[in-house]
Amino acid sequence: MEKLVVTGPTRLKGEVEISGAKNAAVAILPATLLINGTCTIENLPNISDIKISCEILEKLGAKITWHNKNCITIDTSHLTTTKAPMDLTSKFRASYYIIGAMLGRMGEIEVGMPGGCKLGARPIDQHIKGFELLGANVSVEKGKIYAKANKLQGTSIYMDIVSVGATINVMLSAVLAKGTTVIDNAAKEPHIVDVANFLNTMGADIRGAGTDVIKINGVEKLCGNATYSVVPDQIEAGTFMLAAVATKGDLLIKNCITKHLESTTAKILEVGGNVEDFGDAIRVWCDKKPCKANIKTLPYPGFPTDLQPQIGVVLSLANGTSIINESIWDSRFQYTEELNKMGAKITSHGKTAFFEGVDKLYGAPVCSSDLRAGAALVIAGTVAEGMTEIYNIEHIDRGYENIEEKFRNIGANIKRISE
Ligand code: UD1
Repeated sequence: MEKLVVTGPTRLKGEVEISGAKNAAVAILPATLLINGTCTIENLPNISDIKISCEILEKLGAKITWHNKNCITIDTSHLTTTKAPMDLTSKFRASYYIIGAMLGRMGEIEVGMPGGCKLGARPIDQHIKGFELLGANVSVEKGKIYAKANKLQGTSIYMDIVSVGATINVMLSAVLAKGTTVIDNAAKEPHIVDVANFLNTMGADIRGAGTDVIKINGVEKLCGNATYSVVPDQIEAGTFMLAAVATKGDLLIKNCITKHLESTTAKILEVGGNVEDFGDAIRVWCDKKPCKANIKTLPYPGFPTDLQPQIGVVLSLANGTSIINESIWDSRFQYTEELNKMGAKITSHGKTAFFEGVDKLYGAPVCSSDLRAGAALVIAGTVAEGMTEIYNIEHIDRGYENIEEKFRNIGANIKRISE
């Protein structure tokens, strides 16, 4: 078992390079299953979710060549099975993208229910509704999903709720369908645009990704033979932006798309931080106690739920009482109990939490309940006085490349210890 030990307080200063987006990469890898050929993917984040995604692809018959820790070539010409390995797919949420991709390519898939962060109920009814409207038979029995189709037929699909996963999954299944599919009330996150750009580079015809209407004209096949670079991770960039504010630091965050960070930038300005926007880099600094602010998490371009715990650390140190309303997930305030062990004063009731700002946090042993909660605890440990031990860091390793090295390079006193 490993833990992270952070000793603070430290004002983070310097430059940090952002990796490729986890949530784009975990969809692009299964999307390669639609290609009858090879493709090369660059700027893959070196995180455990990607390593497991690659293992799943190999079990399905793909051949993967690693050029370095962030670049692979995948040959998906010859797939050998339509049964996905349950021991691997149960390890993370995005394994459900195999359903859309394999339905499109092979017309059949058997896969276990996906795992992932425990953020409350995570139904997949909108995914299933989309597959069924395209003509697939889908059944869920004893923890397994079976989906089968002779030939998927393009159609109109209205999503009852805005879902990142359902939008991408249905888009994957429609790429090789006959005719045109229109997804209405689609999610608009940057990683949806990135997956569509990847598929279009490989020969698909997808229009409107990034708006709430996506039109997919089915094509006969995807040929691949191209190289694609994954978009920078907006959540990792936002994590460092908020770390700069929480620690009253000064960070230049490089290799990001600042357009994707507008809601985070707006909130940082509201709490009294400073932001300088260079388009592909962003400088964030703060030299005073943050002011209180109220936040409601929303689908993109609203404030991302995946940055809610990180901004929670900032608000726990603000002047006055702030309110966060979490509108996406039912159980995303588990981290507040850990922050309270460090001296924060947070009370949560259902999907609302009240942050009564304190002057200081103090080091304590804490547990990471999920990926972004873990990132928030690293920030809290950096700002806190004394030593913070963070347990359950496998959650953090699922989504952040070299987190301790990146924090150490900007001044944090952080080390990974095996016990
Ligand atoms: C993705 C992200 C996750 C992020 C979330 C919201 C990945 C791998 N994960 O998760 O980090 O927190 O978007 O930005 O990209 N819902 C249904 N039925 C469905 C699907 C979703 O009711 O069929 C609900 C969910 O319970 C949730 C809301 O819709 O309340 C949004 O979920 P969704 O956007 O699908 O999240 P994920 O794709 O699972």
